[in-house]
Amino acid sequence: MESGMSKIDEVMEIKALRRVISAYLNYTAAAEEDIKRWDRSFTKLSSSHKALLRHLPKKHEELRRCVRVNSFFIINMLQAFDPPFDMGDGGGGLDTQDLTAERDSNIPSANCNKRQAIESNMQGKVPKSETLEPVKSSSTGTIRSCDEWSATLAQARAKEQGEEALGRKIEDNMPKDSTRESVGNGEAMGADMKHFSLKLDAYNGLDLDHPSYQLHVPSADVDKVRCIIRNIVRDWGEEGMTERAQCYAPILQELQRCFPHRSQESPPSCLVPGAGLGRLACEISRLGFITQGNEFSYYMLMCSSFILNQTQAPLEWTLYPWIHSNCNSLTNEDQLRAVQFPDLHPGSAGITEGFSMCAGDFVEVYSHPSQAEAWDAVVSCFFIDTAHNIVEYLEVIAKALKPGGVWINLGPLLYHFADAHSYSQEEEMSIELSLEDVKMVASHYGLILKKESMIETTYTANCKSMMQNRYFASFWTMVKEQGPGLQDNLPLEPLSNHRNCEH
Ligand SMILES: C[S@@+](CC[C@H](N)C(=O)[O-])C[C@H]1O[C@@H](n2cnc3c(N)ncnc32)[C@H](O)[C@@H]1O
Repeated sequence: MESGMSKIDEVMEIKALRRVISAYLNYTAAAEEDIKRWDRSFTKLSSSHKALLRHLPKKHEELRRCVRVNSFFIINMLQAFDPPFDMGDGGGGLDTQDLTAERDSNIPSANCNKRQAIESNMQGKVPKSETLEPVKSSSTGTIRSCDEWSATLAQARAKEQGEEALGRKIEDNMPKDSTRESVGNGEAMGADMKHFSLKLDAYNGLDLDHPSYQLHVPSADVDKVRCIIRNIVRDWGEEGMTERAQCYAPILQELQRCFPHRSQESPPSCLVPGAGLGRLACEISRLGFITQGNEFSYYMLMCSSFILNQTQAPLEWTLYPWIHSNCNSLTNEDQLRAVQFPDLHPGSAGITEGFSMCAGDFVEVYSHPSQAEAWDAVVSCFFIDTAHNIVEYLEVIAKALKPGGVWINLGPLLYHFADAHSYSQEEEMSIELSLEDVKMVASHYGLILKKESMIETTYTANCKSMMQNRYFASFWTMVKEQGPGLQDNLPLEPLSNHRNCEH
């Protein structure tokens, strides 16, 4: 693929991507290691205590089965990934020593509730922009059953004894002759955005067996994989419906209120920065907007690409998202419950033409002159507090909106870099404003507050856990001023300031 980036940048990208792939590949061993530790604790019990808890070894076996199911999904996802670079063999120069050095660095530990693990350090982010075109999925080719997966695990073990490779075996299951059709026009919307659409005719596949992916990564990286699994529940799981109803439903309603008469010939455009696994962007597209999700985490991008482009049917995949911790479970069954996804098959969900995912840093991509006054709407959900400098985010949002354009935002102000000093050796910039200051800065950039309320919600929560972190997220609609003497044409509604909850 042609690339506008320098060779050094590309090498860095390949390294970052390798590390993410390795993190995904490390998931199984790390999860099995946890279970081994739980086994060992069990064996230390006295025989009377053991007798009391004789169901635990069976539970551990069940947990192992769940890990295999999760790994099965991960391998399928990796195997379907068409990397934006020629990953080559050994290109990028990442060797195990690189990671050994990084292992000792203070990478933040995962904490999904703090939403830090996925985006708090540069590994796994995509600093340069790339546009991922969603494509209609038309064929299978991935391993479809867990039995098959078990067989591949057996192959892997056999490989350790010098037999056929796991990666090769999975690759053999990929169709060689199918092609995939693009859903959208997929035109790159920024000058230096590049495509890496997932077309099977261009499919190389990742040789997951290659030593450059068999890296031992810091445990914080594997925690990010566990966070992605929770994000899958939020965005695409049946169980995530409650969270989506809390966060996405009010946004979608507000978007419809602001754009009541949407033209099918010339649909309004909507940008969704920090799009995560793409569900909100997908829903906005279904409402009749030309939608672009923007995301810079490879962890997220690989997974959203798989769900958007490669899933064949609703509820096709199964994951066990809650097996990674024994804490706060009411019952063993709760911990071992499966989540099926996607609850909506994106390929047949009525996506509006022009839907795309743009990979890259929000500020870098949308401060480009080509993005000035380019968007009818910007929708952000749990995003603005990911900034090093939230003032910059607000400035970029304001500039990217057309005059009269609408910004709908929902989220807390849990600044992601607020604690960076505790894990990063370098002092990370972190501008942490109160809500009133955020609104003051927005107003400075010509964003006029039209509506405001608070929404009580969780983020990637296990709804059956005894611990629930709740946010009282700010939810607002702002309109970019039209210029001197001009009124916006947003349908009138009194400026509200109610809370939908008491706390
Ligand atoms: C807390 S998550 C929210 C994801 C999604 N909007 C949701 O509500 O589930 C924030 C997302 O923003 C992404 N992100 C953070 N900083 C970003 C940046 N500078 N450019 C693009 N994406 C960014 C992260 O990778 C992460 O996926």
